[in-house]
Amino acid sequence: MHGEHNKPTTATANPTRAARAKAHANIALAKYWGKLDPEENLPAVPSVSITLEALSTITTVAFDPSLQEDTLTLNGAPCGGQALDRVGRLLDRVRSMAGTTTSARVTSQNDFPTASGLASSASAFAALALAATQAAALAIDRSEVSDIARRASASAARSVFGGFVGLAAGAPGETFLAASPIASRDHWNLNVVVAITSDRAKPIGSTGAMRHTADTSPYYRAWLDLCPRLVERIHKAIEARDLHALGEAAEHSALAMHACALAATPAILYFEPATIGAIRCIQSLRKRGVVVYATIDAGPHVKAITALENSQVVAHALGEVPGVLRTIVSAIGGDATVEPVGGST
Ligand code: DP6
Repeated sequence: MHGEHNKPTTATANPTRAARAKAHANIALAKYWGKLDPEENLPAVPSVSITLEALSTITTVAFDPSLQEDTLTLNGAPCGGQALDRVGRLLDRVRSMAGTTTSARVTSQNDFPTASGLASSASAFAALALAATQAAALAIDRSEVSDIARRASASAARSVFGGFVGLAAGAPGETFLAASPIASRDHWNLNVVVAITSDRAKPIGSTGAMRHTADTSPYYRAWLDLCPRLVERIHKAIEARDLHALGEAAEHSALAMHACALAATPAILYFEPATIGAIRCIQSLRKRGVVVYATIDAGPHVKAITALENSQVVAHALGEVPGVLRTIVSAIGGDATVEPVGGST
C-alpha cells in the first residue's frame, strides 16, 4: 500500500485511457466492389484477401476527459474534415458500447512511404478499431473488432486477421458482419510484390467509385453474379496451395472489377501507363515460366502474387518497367496486435 496516498486524485477519478494497436494492409484476391446496404456498409459481394506484412499502420487512441472534441494526427499532420468525421463515427460506436462520452486523441502512423499512394484505409481502420476498443476496455472478441472496422471501411474488417481472410457478402437486415480467417500465414509461403506506379492521389476513392459503378455501369449485375464463383475458386486454390488457380481467379477478379468500373458513365479509370506496363511485364514473366499473377485495387499500383522463391525476380522485372517508381516485397502478415503504449506514436 506504499505510496497510495501520493496518487493525484484527479487522475484516479477521471483517468486518460490509452491503447495502441498495429494492423497490416491487405490485398483482395477476390475483390469487394459494391454495397448491399450503404447505411450499414454491408458488401454486396463476398471477398477474400491476404494480409501484407510489409505495410502496416500503428494507431494510438487516448480517451482524455480534458479534450473538448476528438483530434486526429495522421503521419505527424493534424487532420480534420472527412478523415476526422470517419474516425469520429467509429469512436462514437465504441463510446456507445462502453457507455462513455469522453473524446479521444487519435495518432496514426503508416510504416510505408506516405507519398506512395498506398495509404490504406484497411490497415488504418483495423488498427483504430482495435486500439479504440482496447482503450475503452471493452471485453469483446476479434470478430466484434472486425465488425466495428467493417462499418468504417469494409476491407478493414479483413485486416483484423492475418493470413488468408474472408468477408462474406451482407444479407438484407443484417447488423453484424465480421471477416474470418480462412488459413494462417504459415499455410502457404506466398509473397506480394507491390509496384508503385504513381505518387499522385487517386482520382476517386473506393466508396464513391463503387456507388457510381453500381448506379451507372451496365456490367454491375454481371459483376455481382461473378463474385461468388470466383470466391469459391479462390477458397479451393488456397486449400490446395495451387498458385495457378489462385492467380487466374485473382487476376480475373481484379480485371473484371476494373472493367465494371470502366463501363460506368463517366468512366472510372484508375490505370496509369505504368499500370498496363506492369501487367504486361507479369504476363511476359509467365511466358518465361515464372508463376506470377497481377491484382490491382482502386488505384494505379500493381500487386504481383508469386511464390517466395520468385519474388526477387519479379521485383527486379517490375522495377525495370517504365513509370514504376519503386517496388515493395511483402510476405504474408499476421493478426492485428495490441502494442505497448509509449514511444513516438
Ligand atoms: C478495390 O473497403 O475502401 O480495395 O467500405 O467504402 O470503405 P469502403 O470501401 P473499401 O473498398 C476496397 C475496395 C478494393 C477491393 C477490396 O479491398 O476488396
